[in-house]
Amino acid sequence: MDQVNSDWIQADAALRSIQVTGSDRNEPVLVSGRAEGLQLVGIGTDAAVFTYDGTPGYAFKVYSDVALPKKETEKMVYEKLEGLPFFPHYYGQGLNYLVISYEEGVTLHDCLLQGIPIPEQAVQDVETARELVRSRGLNPRDIHLKNVLLQDGRAKVLDVSEYALDGDDKRWEHLVWAYRVFYPALEGKKLPMWVLDTIKTGYAQWDQASHSLDEFGGRVSELISRFLR
Ligand SMILES: Nc1ncnc2c1ncn2[C@@H]1O[C@H](COP(=O)(O)OP(=O)(O)O)[C@@H](O)[C@H]1O
Ligand SMILES: [Mg+2]
Repeated sequence: MDQVNSDWIQADAALRSIQVTGSDRNEPVLVSGRAEGLQLVGIGTDAAVFTYDGTPGYAFKVYSDVALPKKETEKMVYEKLEGLPFFPHYYGQGLNYLVISYEEGVTLHDCLLQGIPIPEQAVQDVETARELVRSRGLNPRDIHLKNVLLQDGRAKVLDVSEYALDGDDKRWEHLVWAYRVFYPALEGKKLPMWVLDTIKTGYAQWDQASHSLDEFGGRVSELISRFLR
């Protein structure tokens, strides 16, 4: 364990009493067990994220067994991103978790559901963050609505675990495109979960080799106008 003298270590016993179980179908992890003072603040496909009442300011990203190898990668990435303001700060690690700064804010996904306006500045921040990631020899990947927090009108990018991989998953580029094309009509409106889920499923199934972005956009546009009617 890193930094044995750090105060966050007080959370270790509580963290040991919860289990995070992964699925192999890229679905959110399941959490079981509970401990006094431990709060679940987010769920991903690799990990669940907690805070501990006794050590405010820290977030504990607890990996499922299947995703555990990603812990080392993510730690290494955080060390390379040290000092950049667009990412959580890395503090240390336990057996199956990383300790990072707890970041206030609402994910862009929740902004869409709750009708919280997403300002252009937040989009610009992610663009800047991506350039800075590249300047440190890493590859900004897996940047999607649940991995970006809106914090006082600015963006924080979470979940850096894929930055050591190659390839461009285009997710962020497509989101910026959607922001330009569709968001002006949606700003301030609460998008129902079914609309977001339908777009997400369509996106996952979209065969980019045989259908253009415009074709996909046409389907999204139909869906959105059905909701706006
Ligand atoms: N440092 C943090 N501060 C606050 N919330 C966080 C933090 N890190 C993650 N979260 C929340 O937990 C969720 C899952 O974390 P994430 O790192 O994306 O896990 P995964 O790698 O499984 O996708 C995020 O979508 C976000 O809602
Ligand atoms: Mg994530």
